[in-house]
Amino acid sequence: MFSHLPAPTSDPILSLSTAYRADQRANKVDLGIGVYKNSQGETPVMKAVQKAQDIVVATQTTKAYVGLAGCEEFNQSMVDLLLAGTSATERVTAIQTPGASGALRMLADLMRFAQPDTTVWISNPSYVNHKPIMEAAGLKVRYYSYFSPVTKQVDVELMLSDLAGAGRNDVVLLHGCCHNPTGADIDFAAWQAITALAQKNGFTPFVDIAYQGFGDGLEQDAQGLRFMADNLEEMLITTSCSKNFALYRERTGAAMVVANNITDANNAKGKLLTLARATYTMPPDHGATLVKTILQNQELTQLWKQELSEMQQRLLNLRKTLCNELRNKHNTSQFDFIANHKGMFTVLGFSPEQMSALREQYGIYGVADGRINIAGLTEKDIPYVAQAIMNVS
Ligand code: LMR
Repeated sequence: MFSHLPAPTSDPILSLSTAYRADQRANKVDLGIGVYKNSQGETPVMKAVQKAQDIVVATQTTKAYVGLAGCEEFNQSMVDLLLAGTSATERVTAIQTPGASGALRMLADLMRFAQPDTTVWISNPSYVNHKPIMEAAGLKVRYYSYFSPVTKQVDVELMLSDLAGAGRNDVVLLHGCCHNPTGADIDFAAWQAITALAQKNGFTPFVDIAYQGFGDGLEQDAQGLRFMADNLEEMLITTSCSKNFALYRERTGAAMVVANNITDANNAKGKLLTLARATYTMPPDHGATLVKTILQNQELTQLWKQELSEMQQRLLNLRKTLCNELRNKHNTSQFDFIANHKGMFTVLGFSPEQMSALREQYGIYGVADGRINIAGLTEKDIPYVAQAIMNVS
């Protein structure tokens, strides 16, 4: 059965964490996987999460099964965080999923069932797991133009002209904020323009928002998605608590279906539940229970929002400090774009060979596509990283 299998290939992001751990160099820097680190280089459990954990440990009386959709109060909290104030709250259903990757797969399986000849359009480039997940569900994938290697920003004109070719059987996958891998986001006017195209040509937008709160703030980061949900009959959404609640290993996410009416949305949810049953039965509960506990408690919600905003501000400062170091010490404005990017990531515009030089010569681990995780930097790494960037550029 197995003798014809090819040798395994390693995951372009997760393999970096393993290689980083095995690296013996004292000055190594992990800018690979999308994990936030504080100025001590640690990824601590957030205080709001610790407090919620204390409450859950003190009050939880059973570990019996929850249900196929996971924790429904968590699902409602996720809907509120993303869609509050829109008409979509009346015609959306949600299920809890094992992280956002689990949510992507569940919605991909739903598309395959509901509209088997769906083509999913993804940005060029996109999150490395988007294409494999869509293809694993049997869907066709094609790219739309997104990032300009020259300006290091989104080429909105080219993007819109590509998306003008998407029609009824197409789904357009967008990043809600903090584009992964580039860090270059579309502005509100572009969200409006894509919504108008969807109304005219009939494609369905699918918004993957895994970094809400890391760009311009919790509310601002959901603005484009909310406009779309308010103005379109159908839409798909995936979200994650990995980053904004720092619950990475707890695999806490949600998949949502916005439909023309609540009956359609409920039917979509019913199908999602049978798909979940055939895949993992039900999602892990711990992370969702913690999030629910935080979001149902005003004091904990405040604490969480404050912690999240501190992380977001620190990311902005790290971006600024790295730019200033490159500008002032190395006299180059070539990397000024780093300060304008949003969220954890930035694409440096380096080739795979340059990224491997960063890793091999300097112990700086970024992804082969040129992505570095700004949230993996500590303030003390910045002079070393800036020097290495200059040396390989
Ligand atoms: C990343 O892009 O680094 C994260 O989203 C981790 C992952 O699951 O790939």
